Parts: sequence; structure tokens; C-alpha cells
Amino acid sequence: MAKPVLVLNGPNLNLLGTRQPEIYGSTTLEDVRKLCEIAGQRLDLGIRFEQHNSEGEMVTAIQSARENASAIVINAAAYTHTSIAILDSLLASELPVVEVHLSNIHRREEFRKNSYVSQAATGVICGFGAKGYEMALDAVADLLKTQS
Ligand code: DQA
Repeated sequence: MAKPVLVLNGPNLNLLGTRQPEIYGSTTLEDVRKLCEIAGQRLDLGIRFEQHNSEGEMVTAIQSARENASAIVINAAAYTHTSIAILDSLLASELPVVEVHLSNIHRREEFRKNSYVSQAATGVICGFGAKGYEMALDAVADLLKTQS
């Protein structure tokens, strides 16, 4: 049985739907999970969907992915812009990584333009809301096909 794709969400994404809907939309994290599962069925990919508010829990999830996942789709939320620990764990995982953001981080405050996660990612999808997760899973499916 192929290993699932880890779809990992960072801090405050549990508040999606009510958190700054003018930026992040009205889709909840549960909606995003369902969307990922539907995309996973279409692409024949198992999905392991997680959300953590703390940096350490995210690092632990990425470390487990090294053994238990085939690829990582990550929206590290605010840790995107601050966390060398998450970058290091992504690099150590040696897995294909696709970075996602609901908003277009390049059209927002200056501090959101730098992403440590991007240094470990094959590609980045941002600005398409929840649809970006589906696009990321499409990209993962292609990456895994070329890998095998
Ligand atoms: C975000 C963008 C980040 O800058 C922000 O801290 C988030 C969400 C996004 O999905 O657009 O929490 O990752």
C-alpha cells in the first residue's frame, strides 16, 4: 500500500472560516480536509491531514512523515516566515514538498514575502484559496509519477 501524502497545516488555520474571512475566505479547515480527500480519491493518493498550532508539533509531524508519508503539502501559516526548524525538518525528510498558502503572500505585508519553507519546496501555490490545496495535490501526483 502506497504511503499517504501528509497535508500539514500550521497555527491559526483551525480558525479558517471565521478568521479574517476577507483574506482567507469562508471555507473552514474541515472543508479543506474534505476537498483534499476528494482530490486524493481522484488521484489515488491517501491523505493524512493534520493541523498544529505549535512549531514543535509541526516538526514532529514532519519527522514522522520521513517514514510514514510519500510527500508533504504544507501550509506552515505564520511559521512560513520565521521557522528554520520547520525548514530543517523538511530538508531532512528528503520528501517532495509543495508549499501552499490561501492568500497571495506576495501582495501582502513585506514580512510575508520571505518563506523559509520555499527553500525546501519543489513549488509554491498561493493566492487561490482552498483550491490551492487541490492544485498542490495535483502537483504531488505528478512529482510521484516522475519519481517512480
Ligand atoms: C497563510 C499566509 C501566512 O502569512 C499567514 O501567517 C497565515 C496563512 C495563508 O494561507 O495565506 O496564517 O499561510
